[in-house]
Amino acid sequence: MPKLICPACDQRFNLTDNRVVCDCGGLLNLVQPLEKLKKQNLKEIFDSRLGARELPDASGVWRYRELLFPVEKIMSRGEGNTRLYPAPQISVELDVEVLFKHEGENPSGSFKDRGMTAAISAGANIGCRNFVCASTGNTSASLASYCAANDLNGIVIIPEGKIAFGKLSQALAFGAKVLQVEGDFDAAMQLVNELGRRFNPENPSESVYVLNSVNPFRIEGQKTIVLEILQQLAWEAPDWIVLPAGNLGNTSAFGKAISEAFDLGLIDKKPRLAAVQATGANPFFNYFKSGWEKFESVENPETIATAIKIGNPQSFLRAKRSIETTNGIVLEATEDEILDAKATIDAAGIGCEPASACSLAGIRQLVKSGEIKPGQKIVGVLTGHLLKDPDTTVNYHSGRLAVSNAARVNRPQKIEADLDAIFKAIGRE
Ligand code: F0G
Repeated sequence: MPKLICPACDQRFNLTDNRVVCDCGGLLNLVQPLEKLKKQNLKEIFDSRLGARELPDASGVWRYRELLFPVEKIMSRGEGNTRLYPAPQISVELDVEVLFKHEGENPSGSFKDRGMTAAISAGANIGCRNFVCASTGNTSASLASYCAANDLNGIVIIPEGKIAFGKLSQALAFGAKVLQVEGDFDAAMQLVNELGRRFNPENPSESVYVLNSVNPFRIEGQKTIVLEILQQLAWEAPDWIVLPAGNLGNTSAFGKAISEAFDLGLIDKKPRLAAVQATGANPFFNYFKSGWEKFESVENPETIATAIKIGNPQSFLRAKRSIETTNGIVLEATEDEILDAKATIDAAGIGCEPASACSLAGIRQLVKSGEIKPGQKIVGVLTGHLLKDPDTTVNYHSGRLAVSNAARVNRPQKIEADLDAIFKAIGRE
């Protein structure tokens, strides 16, 4: 059985202790029984489930359940199974092989569904009915969807006016209680942490269960992004995996997945991780740059990539470990770099929301600095769907955003309603 261990004070819990965080406030780490797992032919087991029609095997999360945790009843929407797209134009331009793992293809349009199915199943199995998260948008959309589908009460706490419209519309449509608070994500997260401290493991049905990535079961679910990438590459690890970073749950999950896959012999080399923050919301980048000397939160974070507009990421210690154990790097991308990378991914016919484009912005920087070598294989993770934030896309292409390179701007044209005007507009006069 896996165990929950607090890295801060070394207190240990069984899964049946119904704990989300430690008494000391530390974030719990789910420790896998790797020696036992080594006795199973995991590659064969996982490969045999590909193409399955029925749950749990048909879920791109629960397919890897041996590496998650035991749970009686899963709450699944068949999440995962997202595509790994080749990006030939971008690869040629950069002289490397770039693939994009499109997590926007999950049921609610972001990678959050992977952590959500895991953590909500963990909570519901101990009798919880009320689920809460703070969110920059995607977690709230995912929580709302899973709660609606399973007749559970969803409560989402979001910074008023600061989340993209696609995400807000999902939370409302799925029927969650949407509580908008003044302030930013960090203020909302503080409230949720407070709620988490009031969780009573003896009385889960009356308590409110926290589904942010402080919850260790979220991390376990999100590990499957990496596991699925590795399986799609026939268990040949890429040289790099590059991802956007906000609250740092995903960075934590990726490092854990890579280490476990390596220790279990599923892969024979570890891909290097690159976590990419927005320049205006870059506390983890600063921490890395200081040689892990000092973590300082950023007051009033600001970025057009609202998903990662976070100044006080909860999982910075777990994420530090991920960077260290994968010989990884932390980068920051400017607004201009994010918007240009997004326009490039969109123009390749793949598309993503602004935060996701940090992946390509980071890949470009690493190629330029020589850290990524010619011919290397890089997986960029696209965390959310293009339609999550239609305003940013339309504003960009309408010329309403200041960008240094407007070459990709695709302005809509207004024409007379006649054929001559159409022929003129398409250059066939
Ligand atoms: N990309 C997208 C599209 C996101 O929604 C998030 C986080 C991230 C990247 C960063 O991931 O937090 O694990 O480092 N969104 C959270 C939310 C905070 O509330 O939806 P992270």
